[in-house]
Amino acid sequence: MQEPPKLIGPFNQVVTLREIPLSGPVKDSHLEIIERAGIIVHDGTIQDVGKYQDLLATWNKKKGIVEEIRESLVVIPGLIDPHTHICWAGSRHHDFSRRLEGMSYQDIAKAGGGIWSTVLQTRSASLDELIQLTKSRAEGLLMNGITTIEVKSGYGLNFETELKMLEAIFFTNKLVAPDLVPTCLAAHIHPRDFEGTAEDYLADVLERLLPEVQRQKLSKRVDIYIDDGAFSPEQAKGYLQKASKMGFDIIVHADQFKKGGSQMAVEVGALSVDHLEISDEDEIKSIAESNTIAVALPGSSVGLGEPYAPARKLIDAGACVAIGSDWNPGSAPMGDLLVQASMLSVFDKLSMAETLAGITFRAAAALKLKDRGVIDKGMIADLVAFPVKEFEEIFYYQGSVKPAKVWKDGKVAFTKS
Ligand code: NIG
Ligand code: FE
Repeated sequence: MQEPPKLIGPFNQVVTLREIPLSGPVKDSHLEIIERAGIIVHDGTIQDVGKYQDLLATWNKKKGIVEEIRESLVVIPGLIDPHTHICWAGSRHHDFSRRLEGMSYQDIAKAGGGIWSTVLQTRSASLDELIQLTKSRAEGLLMNGITTIEVKSGYGLNFETELKMLEAIFFTNKLVAPDLVPTCLAAHIHPRDFEGTAEDYLADVLERLLPEVQRQKLSKRVDIYIDDGAFSPEQAKGYLQKASKMGFDIIVHADQFKKGGSQMAVEVGALSVDHLEISDEDEIKSIAESNTIAVALPGSSVGLGEPYAPARKLIDAGACVAIGSDWNPGSAPMGDLLVQASMLSVFDKLSMAETLAGITFRAAAALKLKDRGVIDKGMIADLVAFPVKEFEEIFYYQGSVKPAKVWKDGKVAFTKS
């Protein structure tokens, strides 16, 4: 049955993010903030946003309903996490304890921990177990205001388990309120049990896995991890060019511990280049001069004790900077995007407007989604309301104030009890 249009409000403030550029610097004074605002939603999209009293005055009560808000709330677009690995089984808390005692991420991997240990645990999990694990993480993210979540495979690293992961993401998407955007990260590392070189492995992924992913419509995105212990830029280049020719959007994990990945990513026309903790002037320049979106992952910096990506310099150079949680069992176990974006903003000196753009419409751009991340007519009605009086408090409390209410497609998807 079709639902009637709904007027939601009054909100103390609505921050629309309309008219904010896709890239480059933004001051908080550029933000459109509507005080005592209302939002009209219908069929999952936003029909209007404006002063609550004005919208109410013309509201046809016979045709529409009112969702009255009685507390002081500030509304922003539903948050978008453009980079996660939330489909995994097992835990790496022993890795974490070894890292705190001084062992490096790479040495832990060589000693039997790291990505490979999660691969073994994920291979042993059933499809249903993986669905339950991914579902509970996605539901946790919803409570933090995230309404769109990118989710990577990459802990299968063989034909069967990469497909199992992508199927788990596909089925979870039907069970949870947030939209899940799947990415094939079969090129996470060269699997230890693959008989052949790294090049042979990538050729196998291209020949067998990616056509099957396309046939089953499980993902339109291909990611690769470029680093020591993963793939080199030379190995990655041909792989990405071929995947791109097949019609996949290209994403690259680059410049985390070793340079070279981001410049190659720009050359092959990647949609986004993620991590960038050690990117320098040359990398910043080439990313800023391209259409490739830079995705900063402060959760990985915090999880590993590594520097933050140079988000300030990237933005000043004209790049589009999005921010993701990178939630995964190894480098970024926290999974709290708003806390992490707030930390990045303090250390990199991002304005609140830039940080907010990075977890809303700039993050949407990293997922090639034009229908969300802004509160405006025609956009999907994904909204998150915080129990504060003014929007600055959201970042002032550094993510510790959690949402009071979240709407997905115009419907209440979470209310804090
Ligand atoms: O984005 N750096 C490579 N991949 C993931 C970590 C995966 C893991 O450690 O399990 C990342 O940080
Ligand atoms: Fe990642």
